[in-house]
Amino acid sequence: MHLEDRLNKILIIDFGSQFTQLIARKIRELGVYCEIISHNKISKKKYLDDDIKGLILSGGPLNVYQNKKVKFNKKILNQNIPILGICFGHQIISKVMGGKVKQSKSREFGLAKVKQVKNSILTKNFFTKGESNVWMSHADEVTKLPKNFDVIAKSSNSKLCVVENTKKNLYGIQFHPEVTHTNKGKIILKNFVFDICKLRKNWSAKDQKAKLIKEVRKKVGNSKVICALSGGVDSSVVAKLLSKAIGKKLICIFVNTGLLRKNEEKQVVNTFKNKFKINLIYVNAEKDFLSKLKNISDPEKKRKIIGNLFIKIFEKYAKKIKNVKFLAQGTLYPDLIESKSVTGSQTSKIKSHHNVGGLPKKMNLNLVEPLKYLFKDEVRKLGLELNLNKEIISRHPFPGPGLAIRMPGLITKEKINILKEADYYFIKALKDNKLYHKIWQAYAALLPVKTVGVMGDNRTYEYLCLLRAITSEDGMTADFFEFKKTFMQSISNQIVNNIRGINRVVYDVTSKPPSTIELE
Ligand code: XMP
Repeated sequence: MHLEDRLNKILIIDFGSQFTQLIARKIRELGVYCEIISHNKISKKKYLDDDIKGLILSGGPLNVYQNKKVKFNKKILNQNIPILGICFGHQIISKVMGGKVKQSKSREFGLAKVKQVKNSILTKNFFTKGESNVWMSHADEVTKLPKNFDVIAKSSNSKLCVVENTKKNLYGIQFHPEVTHTNKGKIILKNFVFDICKLRKNWSAKDQKAKLIKEVRKKVGNSKVICALSGGVDSSVVAKLLSKAIGKKLICIFVNTGLLRKNEEKQVVNTFKNKFKINLIYVNAEKDFLSKLKNISDPEKKRKIIGNLFIKIFEKYAKKIKNVKFLAQGTLYPDLIESKSVTGSQTSKIKSHHNVGGLPKKMNLNLVEPLKYLFKDEVRKLGLELNLNKEIISRHPFPGPGLAIRMPGLITKEKINILKEADYYFIKALKDNKLYHKIWQAYAALLPVKTVGVMGDNRTYEYLCLLRAITSEDGMTADFFEFKKTFMQSISNQIVNNIRGINRVVYDVTSKPPSTIELE
């Protein structure tokens, strides 16, 4: 898979690390195009395309001595392309080149100090007084240096922490330069990309607008395109981009599942139909969703029912429109990676995301996925270029199954109404206190527990409301946000005083992992 205009790029070979996407995002932030490919796929390739100017081998959960599981095409080390191995990638280069990798006596997880041993282009400006703070996550280490390699830096547990073979343009580092905890990690990536691979800046999300519009026009011709609009960032950017490209040939379908946030359906119709004058079919399917979800409390069943019904309704309305040949989707690059179509790496399924993987192929429509090579932050930049309002672009993510997965247990209209109010108060308080944009995602949930309270002279017996607010880079890992006590007091009072049905508010202080961001 390639962008239609082939750009010189860095190719990142994914060995299943949770940080692979971060590497890609950091490289793109440097203004250089990059793609991710699975180690399984690359192992089948005989030659690398000549637009690949550098390779990065990611970390991963495997051990390099698990020969059967690790698919690695040794030939790529000899193709005269600069290669940077990170963690597992460092170990595999060392092993293949004749070094040794063993289980470490002491594992290294978290912050560590590396000390410079020798100068190198890779570590230019990386050390201060010969040292730098880095983030490690490894249980194995390189114990014997391959021939013709030099050591650039060491840590207390990893003597061969940064190594190079400048003749062959091979570099290996045991720590993770892509995570923010490695203070100057970006410098290493910058040195590799510009000084070692000799790439020039060739990528910015802003520049994608004209190119994508041209591509969509070429692909679609005179046919009509339908688009499932949810009001979230991705589908909104797709709708706006397509409306710019093909005008009235775009028809958006917005399904109100009844599981949206307060007033969301009004906002979507108002923005897209009234303001942007986009063809929009509004489907109120609240009753259908509620009746199908009656008596269902299993999280996976909820997700499946919602996903299937959504598709059925969408298909029903799509069939009514003549001359439709294309379906537009807000698929992003991480969606492709997570759904394995790009990397096929070993990432286990935690939850079934219903709008990842998309609508069914049997609809006989061709797909238009203009955002499929972009990361979320790049989509936001593109959205700004398309004059979408900031309110839409900087919205917190909202899951396809909506409030259904923020309400463990049975779903009832009464609970939905209570939850919509609680969420409304929470988000409004975040905005009023200028906290909304400091937080990656926040929401209220309604727990299936009632507890006793006292209001005035009366006993209450009402639901428990959980608030969740997290900081994150990409939703793959997350930390809870630390509110001041005064904010917590105030939001708890507002919710309990204003919403009948809730008499207690708790705050979720778990990170991801071990928890997930949503409750179900
Ligand atoms: P979890 O709960 O897996 O969520 O930590 C990570 C991010 O994904 C969002 N999410 C979904 N998004 N459809 C979506 O479009 C889904 O089914 C879905 N489930 C979770 C979640 O809100 C968070 O941003």
